[in-house]
Amino acid sequence: MTRIVILTGAGISAESGLGTFRDEDGLWARHRIEDVATPGGFARDPALVHGFYNARRAQAAAARPNAAHRALARLQARHAGDVVIITQNVDALHEAAGSTGVLHMHGTLAGALCGGCGHRWPAPPEMSIATPCPACGRGPARPDVVWFGEMPYHLERIEAALDRADIFAAIGTSGQVYPAAAYARHAALRGAHTVELNLEPSANTGDFAECRHGRATDLVPAWVAQLLVE
Ligand code: OAD
Repeated sequence: MTRIVILTGAGISAESGLGTFRDEDGLWARHRIEDVATPGGFARDPALVHGFYNARRAQAAAARPNAAHRALARLQARHAGDVVIITQNVDALHEAAGSTGVLHMHGTLAGALCGGCGHRWPAPPEMSIATPCPACGRGPARPDVVWFGEMPYHLERIEAALDRADIFAAIGTSGQVYPAAAYARHAALRGAHTVELNLEPSANTGDFAECRHGRATDLVPAWVAQLLVE
């Protein structure tokens, strides 16, 4: 039974109305990474950082999964072998579409993390520096997202899945942020067939055996339909 490992990025949620990072008018055209997505930025101006993630949490809560998220959930439900979804996204649209066991390597907007004691709890819709940590009472409370300079989550489980993959697909990701950008090469070296499904060639398009370019809501349902009849 084929084992399928899928990496998703902001491009899969773009047609649900959530902005990507590096496209024209993306989040990083309007905000400086070092201000809102680094531990140093949070230390300098926690209110600014909370405001950025509060806005993203509200947008994500209003978004609905699209045909690409739903196709991946269908693949998980109907494919006889393992289907592991790794996402760099902090929204919950894979889960909303019915996917299970999603590895959120960059954390999730649904979570709060205490920067003092490491306790995790469900994030309220609006967080601020005054949000108390339910465990230690001190904080500072921060979104449970991974910032630049921090270690992504679930790395051991991800590497184990890549080692065993027969098919690896990257969907809607620019291939510019490591370690995720190295996963296609990793899987290929272990013998997987590698597929890129993206609007345009990614920065590491040369690492893929097969590339399909277009919108996720077109490409992903077609790719899943093909896998389910094979
Ligand atoms: P990017 O914004 O870097 O890349 C999004 C990719 O999706 C681009 O290659 C687009 O061409 C493509 N795309 C846009 N719309 C699409 C559509 N409708 N269908 C298919 N593809 C589409 O986002 P990521 O690669 O996810 O990390 O970014 C990786 C990480 O960088 C993020 O998790 C975040 C960011 O900084 C942190 O904040 C730590």
